[in-house]
Amino acid sequence: MWKGIFPAGLLSLGLASQTSATLLYVSSYAGTVTTLRLTLPDDGSATGAAVTTLENISNSTGCGPNPSWLSLDYSKNFLFCLDEGFNGPYGGVTTFYTGDDGTLDTLDKLDVIQGPVSIAEFGVGGSGLAIAHYSGSSVSVVGFNAEGNLTLLHNETYALEGPGPNPERQEAPHPHEALLDPTASYVLVPDLGADLVRIYQADASTLGLTPIAPLTVRPGSGPRHGAFKVTSDKTYFYLVSELGNTITGYEVTYNENKTLSFDELFYIPTHGEERKLPEKTGAAEILVSPDGNFLIVSSRWEDSFNISNFDPTNSTEIPSDPLITYSIDHATGELTKVQEFAAGGRVPRHFSINADGNLVAVALQGDGRVVILDRDVKTGLFKDYIAYADIEGEVTAAIFREDYHTI
Ligand SMILES: *[C@@H]1O[C@H](CO)[C@@H](O)[C@H](O)[C@H]1NC(C)=O
Ligand SMILES: *[C@@H]1O[C@H](CO)[C@@H](O)[C@H](O)[C@H]1NC(C)=O
Ligand SMILES: *[C@@H]1O[C@H](CO)[C@@H](O)[C@H](O)[C@H]1NC(C)=O
Ligand SMILES: *[C@@H]1O[C@H](CO)[C@@H](O)[C@H](O)[C@H]1NC(C)=O
Ligand SMILES: *[C@@H]1O[C@H](CO)[C@@H](O)[C@H](O)[C@H]1NC(C)=O
Ligand SMILES: *[C@@H]1O[C@H](CO)[C@@H](O)[C@H](O)[C@H]1NC(C)=O
Ligand SMILES: *[C@@H]1O[C@H](CO)[C@@H](O)[C@H](O)[C@H]1NC(C)=O
Repeated sequence: MWKGIFPAGLLSLGLASQTSATLLYVSSYAGTVTTLRLTLPDDGSATGAAVTTLENISNSTGCGPNPSWLSLDYSKNFLFCLDEGFNGPYGGVTTFYTGDDGTLDTLDKLDVIQGPVSIAEFGVGGSGLAIAHYSGSSVSVVGFNAEGNLTLLHNETYALEGPGPNPERQEAPHPHEALLDPTASYVLVPDLGADLVRIYQADASTLGLTPIAPLTVRPGSGPRHGAFKVTSDKTYFYLVSELGNTITGYEVTYNENKTLSFDELFYIPTHGEERKLPEKTGAAEILVSPDGNFLIVSSRWEDSFNISNFDPTNSTEIPSDPLITYSIDHATGELTKVQEFAAGGRVPRHFSINADGNLVAVALQGDGRVVILDRDVKTGLFKDYIAYADIEGEVTAAIFREDYHTI
């Protein structure tokens, strides 16, 4: 959906070089969802004078006090925001209408079980949200209609018979993500507290989730997030575990009886090789690049780099955690490390990649900053920091909206 916007003011200045703009939405525990506008010189037409800018153009407090996650439905111009609701008794889901000018208008808000942290949109035409609730030990399904109105359809709360090997973090089930499989027929929910990936058959017409046999992972590993990769004849699933700081690779089989089987391919440290990491280190986000050739994970509370301050007048270096990139072998699903790159600051809880794969936005929870990284699509290597924005509070997610262009 290409939307051409031609601001008369700019045209009348007779600018020769074109720029294109992309919007980003950023959530923060400070209670805000902020719209940033990233303006880049267009390839081939940049005259050298053009600069990259990342501006805070709009903000909303409509999500509630503790925004934890954002999910965009491009086709309907809906942005869904989760409120973790630290002070309870409920968490929340909000539907925003995304204006082309960056504004976010609240369409509806629904109280849900406390602690929602991730959404998988599913259902015919996009009509349901599967939601993982970390502190509430639950999974729920919320339906929405064409007006963005939200309705609770189902919730399920889990319990443990006893604490897991890490009793501090595994005192209860902690569903950490809801993720749709590539066939849009299953929802997967890594549960950090239970050392399981819960699996459900997802009914696209009724929005029902039917639990099937879960994937059991190593005790104490604390699975957090996952990512799929599909080749012409295989499906791989990569799971990042926060407590164990590991990546597990699986080959997925779709069984005739509508269950999934997982054959473990490897189990490796997040950094690829054994390394002494600070005690508190916690792996966070994982994604496969749009071309399917690379896997990127983030790690937190390492301070494994010192980098130049983003304030050019400040010569004091700042600490940074890493983003770790692997290439994926299509035939075997195996990973080969290609780079560790400083994420741009502390605690990269979330990051996202644009459709072209040449830009990555990193949400740095520890520094209240969003950084845009320039990435070489062919080699998978990060090259540089091309823009940043300071955001009030702990930043929890940063996502691209790319159907917005300007000249
Ligand atoms: C943020 O929101 C407040 C309240 O709606 C508004 O006054 C302010 O101008 C907004 N800031 C930006 C940069 O849009
Ligand atoms: C949709 O939600 C809005 C905001 O909560 C509410 O005013 C409106 O009545 C709802 N519409 C329907 C059809 O439920
Ligand atoms: C969870 O679902 C039950 C019905 O099964 C409902 O009574 C309850 O209100 C739901 N909880 C929340 C917080 O929505
Ligand atoms: C479904 O099929 C798989 C593979 O044949 C088998 O391992 C599993 O036990 C079956 N599950 C059920 C519930 O029948
Ligand atoms: C970063 O700089 C600090 C302060 O000089 C130092 O203590 C720390 O060891 C450095 N970290 C790395 C990874 O070089
Ligand atoms: C320079 O950066 C350091 C590290 O972020 C910070 O502690 C310090 O306050 C900054 N100094 C000024 C003058 O902004
Ligand atoms: C965006 O800018 C507005 C206006 O300066 C400010 O009120 C708001 O706090 C900023 N948002 C963030 C998240 O920093």
